[in-house]
Amino acid sequence: MSQESRTIGVGLISVGWMGKLHSRAYQTVPYAYPELGITTKLVIAADTAPGRVDYARDVLGFAEGTTDYHDVLNHPDVDVVSICAPNFLHAEIGIAAAKAGKHFWIEKPVGRGYDETAAVQEAALEAGVVTSIGYNYRHAPAVEHARKLVAEGRLGRITNVRAVFFSGYASEPNGALSWRFDRKLAGTGVLADLFSHATDLCQYVVGPIAEVTALTSTVYTQRPKLAMGSGTHFAVIENGEMGEVENEDYAAALVRFGPSAVGAGAVGTIESSRVAVGPECGYQIEVYGTEGSLKWDFERMNELKVCLGRNNDEQGYTTVNASPRHGDYSYFQPGPGNSMGFDDLKVIEAKKFLVAVAGGAQENSNINDAASAAAIVSAAETSSLSGQWQKIEEIHGTTAARA
Ligand SMILES: NC(=O)c1ccc[n+]([C@@H]2O[C@H](COP(=O)([O-])OP(=O)(O)OC[C@H]3O[C@@H](n4cnc5c(N)ncnc54)[C@H](O)[C@@H]3O)[C@@H](O)[C@H]2O)c1
Repeated sequence: MSQESRTIGVGLISVGWMGKLHSRAYQTVPYAYPELGITTKLVIAADTAPGRVDYARDVLGFAEGTTDYHDVLNHPDVDVVSICAPNFLHAEIGIAAAKAGKHFWIEKPVGRGYDETAAVQEAALEAGVVTSIGYNYRHAPAVEHARKLVAEGRLGRITNVRAVFFSGYASEPNGALSWRFDRKLAGTGVLADLFSHATDLCQYVVGPIAEVTALTSTVYTQRPKLAMGSGTHFAVIENGEMGEVENEDYAAALVRFGPSAVGAGAVGTIESSRVAVGPECGYQIEVYGTEGSLKWDFERMNELKVCLGRNNDEQGYTTVNASPRHGDYSYFQPGPGNSMGFDDLKVIEAKKFLVAVAGGAQENSNINDAASAAAIVSAAETSSLSGQWQKIEEIHGTTAARA
């Protein structure tokens, strides 16, 4: 990276949904945040599906393409790498990126369980590279406002939290058997895919979780097979060859927040499904305290419902529209009501990552946050098998909300 111009060379590994989104985010940062003086150059993209390599070069604008991700890690012009591969490759590529001295932005979950995440964490910390994790929902301006209200004590003492991430991407019985349903390729199912997001949000807004008990279930045990690198996990295949679903569709957990949390001593529930009929991306967090409460739902991402105080004439929820006063909203829209979208959250994530890479503020989620979320996911899986509560060793996500 040249210090004067702060042009950051970007390498991409895997050109699926997230790979495209990371690419667009890198391209947007210089336009959304011109005052940073950061520009990005799309250097090289890798995917094992040749058509996706062509897409990266011809449409996304990468200068080079390859089917071997090592070419990305070995490229001298690459300063940062986006790792958007399926889960089974995260540990292998994350460790290799750290050893190559490349800063990396990696999608969640980092690895197929806590052990793989911890191995990436160790490699990244040893190499001293900057990391960023795909916990995009925490960047929603309404969520940033929620975190602030909790931190300022506006809700009083936090008593309980409800987090729900219900998606319908696999609600069709003939929904494709993508890599997400294969234990070797994905690890756990909805626990890794959606529950991990909800875990991160709870820790970002309320603080570290210290104890968990959980149960899981699988609603559809067979699905039609889908070749890697074709279609998406939303695909529906009629009359296809069937294969086994190897991980869970639904997970529910009871949690207890630890002593270092802003919401120390609070309890709560986290629930996730990938087969819900109705919610498409119904991702909610509700935080209740002795003096008020708040509710956020990703399907109405630009709104925060807030109730402060009791026994007054306006008792009940106020809908606060995300506005230039909240989070990074002003970098996208000049006034409230001009809604931001999912892609914008990835731009904010890219911005935080690139600022940290350029030596600025460390507001990015990082590999410690990923290890913390992975510890909770692994504990939830263990509990779902044993029926016992699991204590979670403090790992200490760097950006968790702490007292
Ligand atoms: N942060 C979020 O909200 C969010 C949303 C969706 C997915 N994700 C995560 O992003 C990751 C990717 O998910 P996706 O939906 O983009 O997947 P996808 O199936 O759309 O794309 C995966 C890509 O990886 C490629 N690939 C497979 N093996 C490869 C290899 N050896 N080298 C290079 N490329 C290879 C495939 O050909 C495919 O193009 C997953 O870990 C997932 O959990 C995060």
